[in-house]
Amino acid sequence: MKRDFLNLNDAGASGITAILNDALDLKAARKNKPKGAIDDNASLVDHALAMIFEKNSTRTRASFDMSIKQLGGSSMIMDAGTMQLGRGETIADTAHVLSRYVDAIMLRTNEHDKVQSLAHHATVPVINGLTDLSHPCQICADMLTMIEQGKALTGLNIAWFGDGNNVANSLIEAAGLMKFNLILALPAGCEPKHDFVTEARNVGAQIDIIRDPTKAATDADIIMTDTWVSMGQADSDKIIAKMMPYQVTDNIMALAKDDALFMHCLPAHAGKEVVQSVLDSKYSVVFDQAENRLHAQKSILRWCFGLIDCD
Ligand code: CP
Ligand code: NVA
Repeated sequence: MKRDFLNLNDAGASGITAILNDALDLKAARKNKPKGAIDDNASLVDHALAMIFEKNSTRTRASFDMSIKQLGGSSMIMDAGTMQLGRGETIADTAHVLSRYVDAIMLRTNEHDKVQSLAHHATVPVINGLTDLSHPCQICADMLTMIEQGKALTGLNIAWFGDGNNVANSLIEAAGLMKFNLILALPAGCEPKHDFVTEARNVGAQIDIIRDPTKAATDADIIMTDTWVSMGQADSDKIIAKMMPYQVTDNIMALAKDDALFMHCLPAHAGKEVVQSVLDSKYSVVFDQAENRLHAQKSILRWCFGLIDCD
């Protein structure tokens, strides 16, 4: 059966652990190579990846492009608006057609149903490059960054600030799989997806949703946030005012552990969800997270092709 990567649960705890270990190995193995060089023993030689974007992207686009190239393959990047998909061709027909040309497809879209439908109709692996519901590739890169920073995932105390959005949903899913503790400090009406919270709690994760940002920050190992207005959402002064108490400031970081990390998937909006001085501080690992999109996604691709052993 083909392997799709639509959410972290598709790989499960053993798959995610294997992906993260593989990414650490691959990253170390090419330490001094130029970025455009193909890996030694590249494992996806002659494989082609198609990427479809219905929303803007810098990191996902560039990192997936380099991921498949470093593995020896090639990529094709398409904006949905210039495809027939943008004029009403169905996801099903798009899946059938692209499956005849390429070996894997990555989709960034709005409704999660679309990536599910693409996976259902494609005969090649499909990867979720962000939907309104989740962003599993981002959270793989983030967990890789935590491990690199010496933070064992199990038992870690992570505090999420602001909107319970797609990135937060995948973080909750990761908490269930990797057994870290998660406090989400957010205003009423901005809660994450109920199903993700319930599922993570059902497998034993400690997930707390609270209103008090100082309580969430106190003794945290990691403080994480993201934009208050995700792509496709309407911006308004009302939302900004509601979110302002959840801004990550120097005072918030001072409540966390001394060796805490500040994490953000980027793009950041300094002066809104985080102040510039925190982005520039000793705590910040935001560019490591961005780099690790590349390394994590190489291993996600390898997992999709059954090249990574897991239980
Ligand atoms: N973090 C992230 O997914 O960035 P892009 O929107 O630039 O791809
Ligand atoms: N939550 C953000 C993430 C961007 C990478 C969005 O969906 O716009």
